[in-house]
Amino acid sequence: MAVHALLNIAVRAARNAGEIIVRSMNRLESLQITSKGRNDFVTEIDQAAEREIIGHIRKHYPNHAFLAEESGQIGESETVWIIDPLDGTTNFLHGFPQFAVSIACRHRGQLEHAVVYDPLRQEIFTASRGAGAHLDNHRIRVSKQRALEGALIATGFPYRSNLRYLDAYLAMLRTVMEHTAGVRRPGSAALDLAYVAAGRVDAFWEIGLKPWDTAAGTLLIQEAGGHVGTLTGAPYAQGGNIIAGSPKIYAALVEALAPHVPESLREG
Ligand code: IPD
Ligand code: CA
Ligand code: CA
Repeated sequence: MAVHALLNIAVRAARNAGEIIVRSMNRLESLQITSKGRNDFVTEIDQAAEREIIGHIRKHYPNHAFLAEESGQIGESETVWIIDPLDGTTNFLHGFPQFAVSIACRHRGQLEHAVVYDPLRQEIFTASRGAGAHLDNHRIRVSKQRALEGALIATGFPYRSNLRYLDAYLAMLRTVMEHTAGVRRPGSAALDLAYVAAGRVDAFWEIGLKPWDTAAGTLLIQEAGGHVGTLTGAPYAQGGNIIAGSPKIYAALVEALAPHVPESLREG
């Protein structure tokens, strides 16, 4: 497959960041950790990985803009890179081996390229609009599962400000647990979405995400033949509440969750 130059740059940047993350794992106890809010930590590694990604992209595209978790919005351009340098920081801090680097490139409001990189398994999930989604250069597709019965669903538990929706969330979880083969909470939304794209789980839902958690995963899923939407199945505008899945399971999950989605969570 011919890989677009922008995607190549994103892949290189993600691999470089992954190296920084993995190299730091033998000194987790001595990392500098700052709290950004309740259960929201940032380490020097999140920051170093983000600097590496932005620096690498800037070398090639000095005029592009960035929306990055640790730096916020940088610059103005028709082309914006949406970056989560380390998705799954809580896992990382505990040495729990499930986290990823997530990079998306948006041009004139449309997602064009995406990379989610798991630096421990060295799995690289990529997509370019109209060119499909790939895992390590092999084409991936969402699952063919047809019914919630037998489906494996990933989710993210509320643990920060989204804890205020815990009752509604638990009602959703109960329904999903009662009607599927199982629920997983791996701890990296970017990887959860990549796993939907690869058919490893049939769907995913979470409340209160940020654009950098979901931008790359959204394009991966769309290019793998799946759907991404809000909790009510409306178009997803990046950040907020999300359901993603293979077309059949996406629709079934929207329907199953509907009675439990309060007014306050109906918007994306
Ligand atoms: C978090 C992870 C987690 C999800 C949270 C995200 P971070 O990102 O993706 O799985 O449940 O909502 O904020 O803070 O580790 O980059
Ligand atoms: Ca994140
Ligand atoms: Ca992060």
